[in-house]
Amino acid sequence: MSTAEKPAANPAPEVIFEGNYFLDGNYGPVRKEHVATDMTIIGEIPADLQGNFLRIGPNPVYVSSVEKHHWFDGDGMVHAVELSGSKATYRNRYIDTECLRLEREKGSWIWKGLNAMMDGGPAEVPAGMPMVKNVGNTAFVHHNGVLYALHESSDPHIITLPGLETVGTTNFDGKLNHPFTAHPKVDPRTGEMMTFGYMPFPPFVNYSVIDKDGALIHTTPITIPKGVMMHDFAVSEHYSIFLDFPLTFDIARAMEGKSPLGFDKDHGSRIGIVPRMGSDADVQWFTVDVGVVIHTANAWEEGDDLILQACRSKTSDVIGAGEVDTDDPTDVLGQLYQWRINLKTGDIVEGPLHEYYSDFSRINEDYLGVQNRYTYTAEFDQTRAITFKNLMKFDNKTGKTQHHIMGEGRYTGECVFAAKVGAVDEDDGYLITFIQDENNNQSECIIIDAKDFEGEPVARILIPHRVPYGFHAGWVGG
Ligand SMILES: [Fe+2]
Repeated sequence: MSTAEKPAANPAPEVIFEGNYFLDGNYGPVRKEHVATDMTIIGEIPADLQGNFLRIGPNPVYVSSVEKHHWFDGDGMVHAVELSGSKATYRNRYIDTECLRLEREKGSWIWKGLNAMMDGGPAEVPAGMPMVKNVGNTAFVHHNGVLYALHESSDPHIITLPGLETVGTTNFDGKLNHPFTAHPKVDPRTGEMMTFGYMPFPPFVNYSVIDKDGALIHTTPITIPKGVMMHDFAVSEHYSIFLDFPLTFDIARAMEGKSPLGFDKDHGSRIGIVPRMGSDADVQWFTVDVGVVIHTANAWEEGDDLILQACRSKTSDVIGAGEVDTDDPTDVLGQLYQWRINLKTGDIVEGPLHEYYSDFSRINEDYLGVQNRYTYTAEFDQTRAITFKNLMKFDNKTGKTQHHIMGEGRYTGECVFAAKVGAVDEDDGYLITFIQDENNNQSECIIIDAKDFEGEPVARILIPHRVPYGFHAGWVGG
């Protein structure tokens, strides 16, 4: 059934803060939580698509400094579209963190943001609370029937479906003794979840394995020489893969009045490979060409070779949180890249997989840890900061890319692959994402047939409330 197109329903952006790119336009936060069912649908929601599409991002309530506000600082909000029987329900809800509750009680900010952290002034953080605010704003993982909203320096928050209620944080029965990355990996064959956390003090990284029933069964330090921002990692069938890459935390740099986080070419780039249940002493480190990885795509094994694919840039300032040593704006943009590492000989072959700039790499997660054919990314619009104009499908077999063009003034973000009910092929499914049509200020959830990637979306759901640009997407099928 195709419903007739109605006029755009969105009101003009609600201006809450002014004077910062990441608080303005469709980056700006929304205040109200909604449930919407009577939505205009252009096309038809496939009957074999059943589940919850999720997108999380920053939605600040209070900011300590509009000027210094960083995109990563905002309180988490989930925007979700429940898809069932070719019908859609939209919901949005804050992650109800203890930190945000304390700020609401005070009626003002307590935690300073990433770029204001080194500013002077009395500490505002209450005793017993973390120095870095747990905003729960970054990504999801669904494991053992539990949905978690994640923030890489903090404990995960458990979230309900479809209502998006925050149950609270978990430390896995007291066994989690380190921060929990926003990008844990669930092995679809064993049901195990691998996770890690980085810290600014030795051993700088800790790594844990959680079994299929949700019990944390293994933790080991992964010692590296210096604190680095390690946003993501990868797993293959037998190994976990760590990226000691040069976004370093440096007290000396902070003492000079510069950002403590920065690109330090001299730190170099090393890939550490450890057996899944291995320890610090088992890590094999391989030095690779200097670069930065924010997001991995996948890793797998071929005989003695370990293959890692990720979005790699030559450098990064972490969206204005750090310092770089380049004037070329493309040097900070990710490019899908592969390392082939022979674990016996140490031989490494590395290089970009194609010429396009993109990030937010996703795959059909049934293929996590084994060779996947297709990787989906969001392609940068190089005319303005952190803006994504198209989605891309990369084919590992042919080396070719396909592009889903959003059109003038229509911008996207991360998409997620949702397998169709009864899927057989790797790309038997749909890519789902939110887009913002800035021509008429209309938010949409679009559904693309993965086998007809460059064709028109099979459905465009016009969301009657504004969905700000955000971070990661998720899909919980069923
Ligand atoms: Fe991420």
